[in-house]
Amino acid sequence: MGAFTFFLRLSFTSYVLLLVFISCSESVSAEKGEGEITDGGLHNLRTHAIRLSSVVLEATCSPSPLTSTSIKGSSTKPSLKILHKHNPCSKSKRTKSSENLLMDILQQDRARVESVQHRLLDDVRKDLLKSSKAKLPAQSGRSIGTGNYIVRVGFGTPKKDLTLIFDTGSDLTWIQCEPCAKACYSQQDPIFDPSKSTSYSNITCNTTECNKLKSATGITPGCSASTSACIYGIQYGDQSFSVGYFAHETLTISPSDVFPKFLFGCGQNQEGLFAGAAGLIGLGRDTLSLVSQTASKYGRVFSYCLPSRTSSIGYLALGQTGISSSVKFTPMLSDSRSAGFYFIRMTDFSVGGRKLGIPNSVFTTSSTIIDSGTVITRLPPSAYTPLRTAFRNAMSKYPLTDPISILDTCYDLTNYTTVLIPKIGMFYSPGIMVDVDPSGILIAATASQVCLAFAPNTDDGDVAILGNTQQKNLEVIYDVAKGRVGFGPGSCG
Ligand SMILES: *[C@@H]1O[C@H](CO)[C@@H](O)[C@H](O)[C@H]1NC(C)=O
Ligand SMILES: *[C@@H]1O[C@H](CO)[C@@H](O)[C@H](O)[C@H]1NC(C)=O
Ligand SMILES: *[C@@H]1O[C@H](CO)[C@@H](O)[C@H](O)[C@H]1NC(C)=O
Repeated sequence: MGAFTFFLRLSFTSYVLLLVFISCSESVSAEKGEGEITDGGLHNLRTHAIRLSSVVLEATCSPSPLTSTSIKGSSTKPSLKILHKHNPCSKSKRTKSSENLLMDILQQDRARVESVQHRLLDDVRKDLLKSSKAKLPAQSGRSIGTGNYIVRVGFGTPKKDLTLIFDTGSDLTWIQCEPCAKACYSQQDPIFDPSKSTSYSNITCNTTECNKLKSATGITPGCSASTSACIYGIQYGDQSFSVGYFAHETLTISPSDVFPKFLFGCGQNQEGLFAGAAGLIGLGRDTLSLVSQTASKYGRVFSYCLPSRTSSIGYLALGQTGISSSVKFTPMLSDSRSAGFYFIRMTDFSVGGRKLGIPNSVFTTSSTIIDSGTVITRLPPSAYTPLRTAFRNAMSKYPLTDPISILDTCYDLTNYTTVLIPKIGMFYSPGIMVDVDPSGILIAATASQVCLAFAPNTDDGDVAILGNTQQKNLEVIYDVAKGRVGFGPGSCG
């Protein structure tokens, strides 16, 4: 069990799993339609009118009116419901103030972003070292944090439904498994017991399957000395991790979409901020991701709509759905640094209908990834600064207040019931514009500190990240087969 012990030592930080007990909202939401200002048709091209009550916290549950039958997605392809992990409608109780919750989210987000950037930096170094034939440095661990959105899928025979965090920034799917040899955090579903499933089998070490773990997790797999079971370890940016047996199991997405021998991690030792989910589903580009393992059925295409309110429901659709004519595509770029991430080319922004004219070189220097698990979009300082300036100009009638963590443009809106905020457009190669949903512009814990939900990177050379706040209520299509990412106006509340 030497290798196993090695992996167990990954537990250097004793994280107390607080988020399980938290139920609240950090997000901003907007009532559309009702508050839309027409003003001769001019105003609504440039601004969104949002009710402040909708901007600040959903402390209570107001469930989405959508039912499963009205969730978008093709009739022939399964569409899983997406919920926010801090959905106030979930059973767990909230133990933190909204300010503290927002601080926590921003802090975790910072950890995730640092490790994403570190991972890309490492790979650059790795390439340099490779070319000089030097010895490779030890991997610093997979860089991905824990994401914010959850879906339910079935594992095993008979099938057990489990709630998993979905993450486009990582590849390995894992769940907590009995007997939790070292540690399982508390989760909402019963912990999966492989001994009660007839379709479970361990992967043996030194096999092709076992060897795929290195690229999917960044960590060389271990081997159980007694039974030759392949042991995976994966570590995320916030130092949460999972370690356990690499295995085959039947994965059920829908009654007609059943995948025997799906490769996944059956976790025996977990710590981290997984918010009571049973594990994580990896939607990255690597061979072990759900996208790759289901390629014969879904053709490496998936799409989602992230709900604008934490109490609303979005969807994750697997396979090609009917693409509406309003969907605009940008090429998915290959980047020598890391095949696991989805790279796209961001080019510019508009604020209040006016293009900022950010020089091309800014985004070609940084590169950009789209990530479902990063909360706040990170921009090169040379792009963030003009964005902030334009936003502040458009918001000049509202009083600025103290920054929160990485957010430096915050307003005290305690005296307002409605606010007019400028529309923000994101531009991608080859010149397509994607309107950020009103729910993706501001983030707030309280009306006294409502902040622009974008942040600068430290350096123009750091990778830019399109985070999940700015993807809210958009239909985002990952067409890996055709090498493109599409954006359309969403309709998932
Ligand atoms: C899988 O491997 C573990 C560790 O060696 C062992 O305890 C378990 O019984 C194995 N499960 C099956 C179904 O072989
Ligand atoms: C795996 O392969 C290595 C190197 O070929 C060997 O030393 C080791 O004994 C093998 N382990 C098992 C369990 O077969
Ligand atoms: C809100 O209105 C009150 C009463 O007019 C005033 O004293 C206070 O300064 C205002 N606060 C802000 C942030 O504008």
